[in-house]
Amino acid sequence: MTTNKKLLAWVEEMANLCKPDSVYWCDGSEEEYNRLAAELVENGTFKRLNDDLRPNSYICMSDPSDVARVEDRTFICSEKKEDAGPTNNWMAPAEMKTKLHGLFDGSMKGRTMYVIPFSMGPLGSNIAHIGVELTDSAYVVCNMRIMTRMGQKVLDQLGDGEFVPCLHSVGKPLAEGEKDVPWPCSPTKYICHFPEERSIWSFGSGYGGNALLGKKCFALRIASVMARDEGWLAEHMLIVGITNPQGEKKYVAAAFPSACGKTNLAMLTPSIPGWKVETVGDDIAWMKFGVDGRLYAVNPEYGFFGVAPGTSEKTNANALASATKNSIFTNVALTPEGDIWWEGMTDEKPAHLTDWKNRPWTPESTEPSSHPNSRFTAPAGQCPVIDPKWEDPAGVPISAILFGGRRAKVVPLVSEAFDWNHGTFLGSTVSSETTAAAVGAVGQIRRDPFAMLPFCGYNMGDYFKHWIETGEKADQTKLPKIFYVNWFRKDENGKFIWPGYGENIRVLEWIFNRLDGADIAVETPKGFLPKPGTINTEGLDISPERMNKLFEVDKEEGLVEMASIREYYNSFEGHVPQELYDVLDKVESMYKKS
Ligand code: GTP
Ligand code: SPV
Ligand code: MN
Repeated sequence: MTTNKKLLAWVEEMANLCKPDSVYWCDGSEEEYNRLAAELVENGTFKRLNDDLRPNSYICMSDPSDVARVEDRTFICSEKKEDAGPTNNWMAPAEMKTKLHGLFDGSMKGRTMYVIPFSMGPLGSNIAHIGVELTDSAYVVCNMRIMTRMGQKVLDQLGDGEFVPCLHSVGKPLAEGEKDVPWPCSPTKYICHFPEERSIWSFGSGYGGNALLGKKCFALRIASVMARDEGWLAEHMLIVGITNPQGEKKYVAAAFPSACGKTNLAMLTPSIPGWKVETVGDDIAWMKFGVDGRLYAVNPEYGFFGVAPGTSEKTNANALASATKNSIFTNVALTPEGDIWWEGMTDEKPAHLTDWKNRPWTPESTEPSSHPNSRFTAPAGQCPVIDPKWEDPAGVPISAILFGGRRAKVVPLVSEAFDWNHGTFLGSTVSSETTAAAVGAVGQIRRDPFAMLPFCGYNMGDYFKHWIETGEKADQTKLPKIFYVNWFRKDENGKFIWPGYGENIRVLEWIFNRLDGADIAVETPKGFLPKPGTINTEGLDISPERMNKLFEVDKEEGLVEMASIREYYNSFEGHVPQELYDVLDKVESMYKKS
């Protein structure tokens, strides 16, 4: 329990508002997890998987209307609209609070309000921050226990200290005697952030980033504001350790938009001998400068909430291994043996399944058996290649930062920024095809700067400025080098040109060697590109002509892109820093001369 007055008062106030039948403080124990999971089985929310095949694990099918983040229902409620910027939905905090009070009033009737104290980052580390989530969803409690360090130990650590209050309700109160549904949720959804008071109110959804509030809501949207104010970085980045055949190790962070390959790169199995890749984190990085002047990163999370479809022994064996036990699977298919399956898990499709909508499924079925945004929730500690330093409170020193997206054309396999400001420019211009990680059309190209479009808690133009200022303040010789990668270029037949996955180590090798100063790059308007033949393609069935396709630089195409970036920058109405316009001018003149 706790004597934290602010916490006790807030819990009481929210209980009075939401009117749950009872309030339960989570201790974070295994016994508690097992009991809540058993209750979820009882309610039809969870099915326990076959313990011989997948010990201590559950499958869960959500309501078909509640399957992904809802970006158009996500709000940054800063005092001034300008501080939310043109890329966020905004409503004045007072107005939104009035609306939310109406929605939350009695929203937990017939349910338990769970109090979840959680730490983002290793408990007690000076980079960690504590949050407390109030939720009426036991599903959320079970997932939060995997995704964060949570329970009584967090309250002990908190003492009288500060926490980020995170209120969550699925928005489906139960009338007297009303039977619950397996996946309660509401057609009305609001995912709201109050950056000035650093609080989160989430209503109506039980899924992923909408409901597990430590993740995108806290560790990115609220933390990005904290990071701006306090001079650090909260980023949508994986963190990975790479060791070359000589035993030299470097850590790299990489920002790719949702469902664009972070989990895969974070646990990649190298296809070329002698290389080793180890995972620190697969989705979020908090980064601060150490006393030695280098940038250090920690993974604030404790588990993986990974995209299921496409995960296989061939593509990401380490993710599969992480989820062999003690895991939760949401919106995948169930096998007759009581195990899970999803599209791409095996070459051969099972003859019979129960699909994510609880219907019989066979390979002849016209719809996929798993939702494209189906996910596994697995403890990070179960990853076979988890990095020895993944819980080090000091973090790991970052040598390179990668940006990337899903682009069928234009963007090369890899390029290197000229310097920090040019790297910030590249990050600010990231564009990508939309994916199933958010509700809405899939495959549409949109700008997703720094892979933070849905996750930046303030004006994106000011965020660019924060990156420029971060570079200015740093020791230039110790700043990470910045790269831009794209695994998703397609040929004229719509086929991926680059094999991807474990073969991406070949690109990491080139980057690694560049960090060591190798003379393997040429200057182009797109940055430093690999000299022909300097990406190791030994053992790959890819012709030099096809490789060249991955690095084409087209003057006209480039000038059109620069004009589009200028227009994009102008849309921030003066918030994009001059330094980025300077880079834009420089790159544009390089294209003109090319
Ligand atoms: P979030 O959890 O939503 O932030 O996604 P993520 O960035 O971690 O993406 P993830 O690694 O889960 O990959 C998403 C999809 O992209 C999966 O279906 C992968 O199989 C696919 N993918 C990942 N890496 C590659 C690659 O190198 N090449 C190709 N062609 N596909 C890839
Ligand atoms: C993403 O969409 O980037 C995710 C999944 O990592 S969610 O937790 O739903 O945000
Ligand atoms: Mn993500």
